Amino acid sequence: MSRPKYPDSIPGEGLELVPWSRELVAQMAKWEEHGFPYHAFDLAHLKDPMQASMALARAQEEGKHRQFVAVEDGLAVGRVAVNLDDEAGLYLWAVHVPPEHEGRGVARRMLAALMTWLEGYYPGRDFVLTSNGFAENAHRTYRALGFEIAETRWHYDKELAARLWRVSPRERDPIARHIRFQSGRWQVRAHIFRRPWGAPVAPREHATASQA
Ligand SMILES: CC(C)(COP(=O)(O)OP(=O)(O)OC[C@H]1O[C@@H](n2cnc3c(N)ncnc32)[C@H](O)[C@@H]1OP(=O)(O)O)[C@@H](O)C(=O)NCCC(=O)NCCS
Repeated sequence: MSRPKYPDSIPGEGLELVPWSRELVAQMAKWEEHGFPYHAFDLAHLKDPMQASMALARAQEEGKHRQFVAVEDGLAVGRVAVNLDDEAGLYLWAVHVPPEHEGRGVARRMLAALMTWLEGYYPGRDFVLTSNGFAENAHRTYRALGFEIAETRWHYDKELAARLWRVSPRERDPIARHIRFQSGRWQVRAHIFRRPWGAPVAPREHATASQA
């Protein structure tokens, strides 16, 4: 099946998804950071003009990935991307809402908008994503959207492992049950979430009450 091109805008509930632009990169560069253990998502490196140009060029390529910024009234409030050519399914990645916009359902609304758009192009295909075991807020969002854990495995996450060498035991403590040191390196427990085609989306209050 041919890949959908970048649309000007994908409508969502109180937000729209738009392709990356120079103006939005400048906004994302100013987002607050989550820090460890979510540091891989942080975008402060976009303050560097060279890195910003490279990231923008990558995000605008019409290859197998589509990267979007979630925007509310012109304000960048989140981002999300999808790999259209992964064997496992439509593979969602870079699900990221900065701390100042968390807790308002941005992640849920932007994922719902993206999946609805993709379903029009790829009827019958499942959605898939990988999430570290400690990302519990993200898991609540995924479950509310009809995702279930299909598999759990220990894996080597290069960026997280590098940081685990540098943080103190005290900083490691909150994620202790999701990490282990084995065969000379740090590993993290990761879940593969799958959303079967046509899975129902739970109303928000239901997700809050029963899926934590
Ligand atoms: C995970 C993330 C995308 C959630 O974004 P969001 O827009 O806040 O998501 P939602 O508003 O849909 O909230 C998701 C759940 O987290 C809870 N939550 C979000 N922010 C919170 C906060 N600061 N404190 C407490 N709970 C919070 C919400 O209450 C919600 O749970 P509920 O449905 O049971 O009420 C965002 O926190 C993030 O980018 N985290 C760092 C990167 C990351 O983990 N990405 C996902 C990797 S797979």
